[in-house]
Amino acid sequence: MTMVVHSTQLLKMAVLTVFFIKATTQLLSLPNCPTKCGSVTIPFPFGTTKDCSLDSTFLINCNKTSSSSTSSQVPSLPHSNQSVLNISLNGELHVAWPVARDCYAEKSKLVSQIYRGIDLKHFSISSTQNKLVAVGCDTMGALTAYDDVGNNYTTGCVALCNGLDDIVANEACSGTGCCEISIPQGHVLTKIIYTSVSVFNNHSEVYDFNPCGYAFLVENGAYNFKSTDLLKLEKEFPMLLDWAVGNQTCHQTQKDLSNYACKDNKSTCYDATERSGYLCRCFHGYWGNPYLIHGCQDINECMDSNDCVEGATCINTPGSYHCLCPARYEGNGKLNGTRCRSNTKSRKEIILITALSASISLVALLVGSFYAYLALKKRKLIKLKEQFFQQNGGLLLQQQLVMHGGSDETTKVFTVEELNEATNNFNQSKILGQGGQGTVYKGILQDKRIVAIKKSKINDPNQIEPFINEMIVLSQINHRNVVKLLGCCLETEVPLLVYEFISNGTVYQHLHDQNQSLKLTWKTRLRIAKETAGVLAYLHSAASTPIIHRDVKSANILLDHNLTAKVSDFGASRIVPLDHSQITTLVQGTLGYLDPEYFHTSQLTDKSDVYSFGVVLAELMTGKKALSFSRPEIDRNLAVYFVSSMKENRLLHILDNNIDDVNTEQLKKIAHIAERCLRVKGEERPTMKEVAMELEGILVFEEHHWGSGKLSSDRAASSAINVENGVYRSSTISSNSYSINQISMSLIGGR
Ligand SMILES: *[C@@H]1O[C@H](CO)[C@@H](O)[C@H](O)[C@H]1NC(C)=O
Ligand SMILES: *[C@@H]1O[C@H](CO)[C@@H](O)[C@H](O)[C@H]1NC(C)=O
Ligand SMILES: *[C@@H]1O[C@H](CO)[C@@H](O)[C@H](O)[C@H]1NC(C)=O
Ligand SMILES: *[C@@H]1O[C@H](CO)[C@@H](O)[C@H](O)[C@H]1NC(C)=O
Ligand SMILES: *[C@@H]1O[C@H](CO)[C@@H](O)[C@H](O)[C@H]1NC(C)=O
Ligand SMILES: *[C@@H]1O[C@H](CO)[C@@H](O)[C@H](O)[C@H]1NC(C)=O
Ligand SMILES: *[C@@H]1O[C@H](CO)[C@@H](O)[C@H](O)[C@H]1NC(C)=O
Ligand SMILES: *[C@@H]1O[C@H](CO)[C@@H](O)[C@H](O)[C@H]1NC(C)=O
Repeated sequence: MTMVVHSTQLLKMAVLTVFFIKATTQLLSLPNCPTKCGSVTIPFPFGTTKDCSLDSTFLINCNKTSSSSTSSQVPSLPHSNQSVLNISLNGELHVAWPVARDCYAEKSKLVSQIYRGIDLKHFSISSTQNKLVAVGCDTMGALTAYDDVGNNYTTGCVALCNGLDDIVANEACSGTGCCEISIPQGHVLTKIIYTSVSVFNNHSEVYDFNPCGYAFLVENGAYNFKSTDLLKLEKEFPMLLDWAVGNQTCHQTQKDLSNYACKDNKSTCYDATERSGYLCRCFHGYWGNPYLIHGCQDINECMDSNDCVEGATCINTPGSYHCLCPARYEGNGKLNGTRCRSNTKSRKEIILITALSASISLVALLVGSFYAYLALKKRKLIKLKEQFFQQNGGLLLQQQLVMHGGSDETTKVFTVEELNEATNNFNQSKILGQGGQGTVYKGILQDKRIVAIKKSKINDPNQIEPFINEMIVLSQINHRNVVKLLGCCLETEVPLLVYEFISNGTVYQHLHDQNQSLKLTWKTRLRIAKETAGVLAYLHSAASTPIIHRDVKSANILLDHNLTAKVSDFGASRIVPLDHSQITTLVQGTLGYLDPEYFHTSQLTDKSDVYSFGVVLAELMTGKKALSFSRPEIDRNLAVYFVSSMKENRLLHILDNNIDDVNTEQLKKIAHIAERCLRVKGEERPTMKEVAMELEGILVFEEHHWGSGKLSSDRAASSAINVENGVYRSSTISSNSYSINQISMSLIGGR
């Protein structure tokens, strides 16, 4: 075991070392050729000698200069003796070029006039990325450009000024003291002569502060005009040249590969855009020098930029990378892509098990066929049912139930026949509702019990996991305000879940459905809120393992004939391992109810349910939908609208019109709870336990003051009041409702 670990570590180190060496010995020039001249990198095809460059075209002189006190090497173009500033393999070459000038003595006598020229044999002057600039107050900058076939083009601009004041205030190169103009476009320019001349009277009017006029070529953006330049401007400016290999296109070159310059086989050729010839580039996912064999190196995307989702493992491959989702997740793990979805593994397992069992049974069938010849037809049918059972996660379910300690005694496994009979073969008329997860049918069992049967969508394997999940979660919950799961059926093509039938629709329908005759009173709403809070508190802390509902919303709170709340739809719920307070999941939920913090971090905690509950509470108070596109944009999200209204003290204005006869103090208390639940930061929100206790407290208080003063019988039964220093003990929570102890405590504590 230790040996294995040791050797993997060694391997990792070896891989890292190789990478490190590779990265530092990136090939830039031919072997034994200098890669640098002074501080400038000289990548092949350029070189400082004939042997080090592709051909004489790419020869760069690297002469020592003794102009400055410290002699250093400076690369220069051989024919023009101008220094090279930088060489890029994308076809650009930065060089320095001097200014042209015309200077005058005091009495407007011309002292000197220097023309400048660029005459290139192998490179061309980028017409798009350079421009002509003239600086002076009596100055015209002018140039004549020659293209590769001998045509010439002339252009120029004029810079004038009267004094320095205007210029100091606005140092823009726009005609006053400085002008600029683009050079003739659309030609391959190999030669340019440029100069500056006086326009009016040899600088006699402006001699004091501008004795010379200047003109120069400069790369776009590399010169900023300053008023001091009018006095003296003698330096070189960076300019951009275009280079390419040869004067043929890729297509022409590839006919004769002997001269093909893209030497690395992980590279490709492309035509130069502003001139003849072609260039090479490494394939996507590689970097380096495509003009050299082994010049292109794999980019390790996992070390720098990649778009793997959090939690996925990045794996580098030659020229690419992929993102590996954690075990039991499928998808490509990329932000843009299918990300990671849970399920595959279990699905694969099921398929594997199915395949295994199918092959085993095939053998058994062959052996037994001698005897079971006549019973074969019947067996086939059973086999099919079994296969459905397995495919629908029956095995997984059994395994999970054992793992989570759930008992399958409370949940019954129904047969297809039973459910077919109950629903009249899933007759259309029996449909109660249709949702993202499937269709819900009303059914009547043989013992006359009315049930709701949820049927997953056919042929959608993604729907099976939420089903199994819901079964596992519900099998562990026994709470009077949670819709009861009676059982399931896995023998059909798609799994079926059987619940107790809740007759009175959802809170959502009662609040938002115009046709709903029955309007919920404020007291009922408060009780629904309390009951829902109680369920969530129970799920978070009292169930055998904490459960996060993940999809708390008014549409998931059902109401029975007494308008008692029944929380439903645990398809998205997560069981939290005891040693984790938060888990990373794919964000799931309903817009309008979704916790913004969870949405941004993917970190699921019980506080996400608290947020959703806050939205439900706001919904109960305002009668407005959590998200409504019929409202103005800023009011679309109820949570935001509610909190801002509270801040502006407009709470009473946004209340549901159907709420009347309400105690304002009480309303404010409830609104305050909702506001705290809706805090953006999860840690600032109260726990569901606190919320449930506060709501319970408010209700009891109301009953004492405005109600009959009578506690319901089950509360009255438990009479001992035990405050215990005001410390709430979760162990005293009963699975059905809070005992009087906690209620009185919160009463006392709240005042
Ligand atoms: C310097 O450049 C000249 C051409 O400008 C060239 O002839 C000479 O070989 C180069 N090298 C040295 C060391 O002078
Ligand atoms: C090249 O330019 C340097 C200064 O930039 C100068 O010292 C040298 O004499 C020039 N050589 C030639 C051959 O023009
Ligand atoms: C030279 O060009 C390369 C590539 O365009 C760039 O990364 C580098 O910063 C440039 N160096 C200088 C000194 O301009
Ligand atoms: C520019 O080209 C024209 C012909 O197109 C020619 O007559 C003229 O002399 C050329 N000028 C220069 C400066 O080369
Ligand atoms: C400008 O200088 C030139 C050359 O010195 C001279 O021929 C010309 O007359 C001068 N123009 C003015 C307006 O002074
Ligand atoms: C292409 O370049 C070669 C040598 O570099 C030269 O002989 C040939 O004339 C050029 N062809 C064109 C069309 O410019
Ligand atoms: C490139 O050449 C190497 C051998 O030098 C070979 O192993 C590799 O498969 C080639 N790659 C491609 C993409 O042709
Ligand atoms: C990913 O999405 C962004 C923006 O939606 C887009 O610009 C980018 O091209 C996408 N990347 C891939 C690899 O699809």
